[in-house]
Amino acid sequence: MDWVYVNKVSGYVGQEVEIKGWLYNKRHSGKLWFLLVRDGTGIIQCVVSKADVTEETFENCEKLTQESSLTISGIVREDKRAPGGYELLVSKGEIIQISQEYPITPKEHGETFLMDHRHLWLRSNRQHAILRVRHQLIKSCREFFDSRDFVLVDSPIFTPNACEGTSTLFETEYFGRKAYLTQSGQLYAEAGAMAFGKVYTFGPTFRAEKSKTRRHLTEFWMIEPEVAFYDLDDDMRLIEDHVSFCVQWVLDKCKDELKAIERDTTVLEKVRPPFPRVHYDDAVKMLKEMNIPFEWGGDFGAPDETALAEKFETPFFVTHFPSAIKAFYMKRDLQRPECALACDLLAPEGYGEIVGGSQREDDLSILLERIRKENLPQEAYEWYLDLRRYGTVPHSGYGLGVERFLAWICKLPHVRETIPFARMIYRLNP
Ligand code: 4AD
Ligand code: MG
Repeated sequence: MDWVYVNKVSGYVGQEVEIKGWLYNKRHSGKLWFLLVRDGTGIIQCVVSKADVTEETFENCEKLTQESSLTISGIVREDKRAPGGYELLVSKGEIIQISQEYPITPKEHGETFLMDHRHLWLRSNRQHAILRVRHQLIKSCREFFDSRDFVLVDSPIFTPNACEGTSTLFETEYFGRKAYLTQSGQLYAEAGAMAFGKVYTFGPTFRAEKSKTRRHLTEFWMIEPEVAFYDLDDDMRLIEDHVSFCVQWVLDKCKDELKAIERDTTVLEKVRPPFPRVHYDDAVKMLKEMNIPFEWGGDFGAPDETALAEKFETPFFVTHFPSAIKAFYMKRDLQRPECALACDLLAPEGYGEIVGGSQREDDLSILLERIRKENLPQEAYEWYLDLRRYGTVPHSGYGLGVERFLAWICKLPHVRETIPFARMIYRLNP
């Protein structure tokens, strides 16, 4: 008999198959048991009729507790009323283990309790759906860059230098020296771009974020493309194509998941290039018009981003931030040296920044000056400076934070639900 996954049973109507999984729920009605069995790909209703099975099998149904593991076989039948549209008319079943009392019950649990039981919470319908969307989102990113001939260049996790400022570095001992967990693969992606033209790096990144917000993780995943000979405009076109491609992909591949989490998809359907572009100067004016206290030169906080986003229905760019608040590697605007050739992409619905990008400083002497001004240890950046010594060219790139993007796509209240096991200032377990 074939072992079949629940999401494939439609191809086996009228045939006898075996399902391996866990009990999600059950209900009893006279000589019938209705067992809802999940196997990771879906949930199927298994109908156990006293007339069709041994006495032992029928009595076993009584013993089954939530999350008990089992194998069960029977004939697949189409039934529009059954969850998923198919059910199993059971002929045989075997218990693998009767689960101990499962801590997550259909009643309401607090967020801390659920996060403490994250290793089990993953089995719940909603969390399961979110992580399936994550899977497709990551797949769509890879698909997007592969289809455009980008080369994947993995960047290291242990690094000798900072990329995004020294205040959020995780330091670790490395055979008698200091090393840092990477904050961004960008500097290595730049080396990759000089070797391959178009590259991306994708991996976990780490920031010792001391703030406890709904947008910050200490460990998050970032997709970082980098392209030689791209300027800021080219960079923004790539961002809007990338983000639109992923959103459309998820809409196409994750209909059931988006329905399970009750996401209103009308906003997502509007995500197509081009996205609006707002100069930082104008963003400041917009905030002032909304009577929000904000001075030119400052960085946006979450409330500022949310206020700006009220003006837009799609993701939008804010460009040309003051260089003083941006990273050392960003190129200055030659017409306005106090501004950087930088862009942030902000999501609508109050989700804030999901992408940060820029054209990079390609001039050796200016880059050196920036490194000195920021008191960064020049020795640690010598390899990076080599990229400006040997055939420097204009180039640009960006970083898209998977969890922030996913939180918006699924409209979640907090990024902690977007990653299988979140790491935050007060959360290292499970
Ligand atoms: O704007 P950031 O700091 O940019 C960089 O790291 C650049 N080196 C990227 C590049 O140009 N290659 O971070 C990029 C994105 C943010 O827009 C956000 O989506 C995400 O990474 N991000 C975080 N996500 C979750 N938790 C945090 N603590 C995050 N910090 C940044
Ligand atoms: Mg940023």
